[in-house]
Amino acid sequence: MNIIEVKDYQEMSKKAAEFVRDNVRRNQTINLGLATGGTPVGMYKQLIEDHQKNHTSYKNVTTFNLDEYIGLSEYNHNSYRYFMNDHLFDHIDIQMSKTNVPHGNVNDLKKECSDFEHLIKEHGGIDLQILGIGSNGHIGFNEPGTSFDSQTHIIDLTHSTREANARFFGNRAEVPAQAITMGIATIMKSKAILLLISGTNKREAFFQLVHGEISENFPASVLRKHSCVTIIVDEAARGNVQ
Ligand code: F6R
Repeated sequence: MNIIEVKDYQEMSKKAAEFVRDNVRRNQTINLGLATGGTPVGMYKQLIEDHQKNHTSYKNVTTFNLDEYIGLSEYNHNSYRYFMNDHLFDHIDIQMSKTNVPHGNVNDLKKECSDFEHLIKEHGGIDLQILGIGSNGHIGFNEPGTSFDSQTHIIDLTHSTREANARFFGNRAEVPAQAITMGIATIMKSKAILLLISGTNKREAFFQLVHGEISENFPASVLRKHSCVTIIVDEAARGNVQ
């Protein structure tokens, strides 16, 4: 794992945006895997700024999002489809038809999972996957205990994840109990991975990731088995980890 140490959230966002922008410029038909949550918001802002100033084009880029809440429609402000439109897609020249976020409000969720997995395969796989990390080590919404062999599937969100995401909903009771998420095997098939880690609440997770054992009890540890992972981590998350 290539670890890039930065000072703070602002610098992490800037470096991450440069990393993504350079990849998009090198490969204009890149398949990007995207994340939601608080961590990548600054990076998306920087990408929009770059698009406006330097005209980096996303016209031929295809995107696949990691996850979506079950039961929320795309018009719900807390859905990840809404988040992506609002924080990125509506502000760049990407073709909406090339943006893929799992649908969390369809009747046949099993079919949605296998369709999403096939869609990624049909497009030749993800070239660069952006990840955040949960304080319990989840990537995507693959909570502790999820099989390293998992493909896109439905997951029960843990108490701590619903608690952490309550800040977007007002209270924990409103956070959906389930989500659809790319599996760990799906994520590991990405050709390259960029993981962003910021803030003191991620310090324990960063420590585990670097020093803990590789175990399904700490899903992100699987990344140590991937040959092309870049981590951008700020001082607050690093603490005293060497
Ligand atoms: C989001 C996702 C999650 C988040 C993680 C960290 O699409 O898949 O794994 O990256 O929950 O969330 P934040 O960035 O809000 O701390």
